[in-house]
Amino acid sequence: MQPQNTYILAIESSCDDTACAILENDRVLSNFIANQKIHEKYGGVVPELASRAHQSNIVPVVHEALQQAKINKNQLSAIAFTKGPGLMGSLLVGTSFAKSLALSLNIPLLDVHHMHGHILAHFIEDGQEKPSFPFLALTISGGHTQIVQVNSPSDMKVLGTTQDDAVGEAFDKSGKILGLGYPAGPQVDKLAQKGNPKAFLFPVPKAPELNYSFSGFKTAVLYFLQRETKKDENFIEKNLEDICASIQYTLIKILFQKLEKAVQQTGIKQVAIGGGVSANSGIRAHLKSMESKGWKTFIPPFDYTTDNAAMIGIAGYFKYLENDFAGLEITSTPRIHM
Ligand code: KG4
Ligand code: ZN
Repeated sequence: MQPQNTYILAIESSCDDTACAILENDRVLSNFIANQKIHEKYGGVVPELASRAHQSNIVPVVHEALQQAKINKNQLSAIAFTKGPGLMGSLLVGTSFAKSLALSLNIPLLDVHHMHGHILAHFIEDGQEKPSFPFLALTISGGHTQIVQVNSPSDMKVLGTTQDDAVGEAFDKSGKILGLGYPAGPQVDKLAQKGNPKAFLFPVPKAPELNYSFSGFKTAVLYFLQRETKKDENFIEKNLEDICASIQYTLIKILFQKLEKAVQQTGIKQVAIGGGVSANSGIRAHLKSMESKGWKTFIPPFDYTTDNAAMIGIAGYFKYLENDFAGLEITSTPRIHM
């Protein structure tokens, strides 16, 4: 007998993107995202506006994902959703919608940790080789910077974490000082590609063991720019590409110092990256270059790096295979550990 296919509808609403995806087993049939433009003029996500936008987006986004996948909701096997971490008001919209849909269709509910999604996105079927367990994952986003030892889809151990800002914030806040729009990370990346990474020297903040610290970095960038623009008010304009390249170079140096230490300490040489910042071209290239040191590296496809629901779907699929379902009493958890 042919094994039955599993169809999972997944919802991600932890921050400012309303996303829905449909998966057939580990394959993505649709992966739809409504970005919220409203936050751009505020230079950051406004939580109250985000949850309001999720409320108006969620129904059309789910509808669109079903249509693109050419799936009828009665074919669905389970509903997966992001339980946390994230913004409470945003999470609540996805959680409530997922619960109501699961209840009305009488199918199981799968609660997913957002960062598990970023890590397990590597297992979405795309014809590429997958990591085998255990492997190390560097999860880098606007809210997280962690080195995780992934022993299985449900057994993950955080080896190091940021003590203050996430690396995505370091990109965004430095970019904001340079006058770039929100989020500045992708623009810093683009400008850095044309600049000299060694034009300016920024300090590497100290943090114990495998942990990170980024809050001092943006202050160092700020003081450096204040000093230079005092001497030449057009300094930023004249050197924008070199400044971006130097910022990116330093952030990559910080990330990889600890990642290399983690590889040495654990002896695990399979290394994957995940999270929004793993879209960065410099980080991708640097990780790839580590293959010359015997690492085996894994980089997720672009579509599955920044927040998306396909990653929640694949994490939900692993839970589905383990019959690890959530009850209807489940609630959003804005702060949860791995
Ligand atoms: O995972 P994500 O979409 O949302 C969170 O869970 O935080 O990550 C968003 C972060 C933002 O800080 C954004 O600036 C950063 O990812 N980002 C980048 C790039 N693309 C997105 N940072 C540097 N280079 C990029 N190409
Ligand atoms: Zn994320």
